[in-house]
Amino acid sequence: MNNLSLLKQEFLDKIANVSNLKELENLELEYFGRRKGKLTEILRGLKDLSEEERREQGKLANQIKQELKEAIKEKKGKFQVSNFKFQNEWIDVSAPGEKIIKGHFHPLSKIIDEISAIFEGMGFEISEGPEVETEWNNFDALNIPEEHPAREMWDTFWLRQNEIKNQKSKIKNNEKFLLRTHTSPVQIRYMQAHNPPLRIIAPGRIFRYEATDVSHSHTFYQLEGLMIDKDISIANFKAVITTFFQSLFKKDIKLRLRPSFYPFVEPGFDVDIICSVCEGKGCGVCGEDGWLELAGAGMVHPNVFKAVGYNPKDWQGFAFGFGIDRLAMMKYKIPDIRFFYSGDLRFLKQF
Ligand code: DAH
Repeated sequence: MNNLSLLKQEFLDKIANVSNLKELENLELEYFGRRKGKLTEILRGLKDLSEEERREQGKLANQIKQELKEAIKEKKGKFQVSNFKFQNEWIDVSAPGEKIIKGHFHPLSKIIDEISAIFEGMGFEISEGPEVETEWNNFDALNIPEEHPAREMWDTFWLRQNEIKNQKSKIKNNEKFLLRTHTSPVQIRYMQAHNPPLRIIAPGRIFRYEATDVSHSHTFYQLEGLMIDKDISIANFKAVITTFFQSLFKKDIKLRLRPSFYPFVEPGFDVDIICSVCEGKGCGVCGEDGWLELAGAGMVHPNVFKAVGYNPKDWQGFAFGFGIDRLAMMKYKIPDIRFFYSGDLRFLKQF
């Protein structure tokens, strides 16, 4: 009897420490194994006892057997529950995390941010205007009156009057609307709303009714610049854009100014830099020329000042318009402007 209670206690101690199904099976075998099980042996030994002892011990042994079996059953039940969980909700906390695919800015947005930061460093303010413009802001105020042959420099998407009819109440004198062909109208908007002296840049999307090729797109980006004060000269312009190029390309950039014509400036010129795709040797991007035209610029025409209500005798300054796509093509050595608008992830993922 003593033996039996000891055995029971020993078993209960052991089962308390069992931590998986395999251990439990071993424990069961240890006590209930058909041939060598500890309890089995005791039960088997009962037959050698006297009748009285056998009755007493037999009763106790069977009771303990039931208790131990019950304990095993209960423990097994627990394992089965946690086993189920283990298999279905198993998580390897030491496994390396799954890489999250992060989005990022489009190369053109990136370069616009970078350009803006450079100009802000030189005291320029960032201004913006709408993509749908009035004919007056886009042309007339910029000294390009109707019937002026210079209007042909900008192949224009005109908006049909009925496309904007829900805005009719705001439209004065049957004014015509268009998709802005350049960012220059932002100059007009800004000057009408502010007094000089001023320094602004205006990045933005513009539209041209023209065929696309490696360096032309019907939709692209420009960066307008305007600096007005008492005595701003072309020397100031050169200093500003030289600083700008050096900051953007992080090296000395060779540039040249060529006389050119834009109705809203006098004198006007174009700004070329050595093509960085071919380093000046000549390639598709620069039209085999080695130089690439990046900007138009000039000294603001007195008629523009008059249009916005400034006195041309009091103020002077420069204006410029860069092709942002071309700057990005130079900076990142991209041979075809159409990549920017293709939505091709193989291209975009490189930035
Ligand atoms: N708006 C011109 C264009 O789209 C570019 C330009 C030329 C802008 C001369 C200017 C400028 O501000 O002074 O072709």
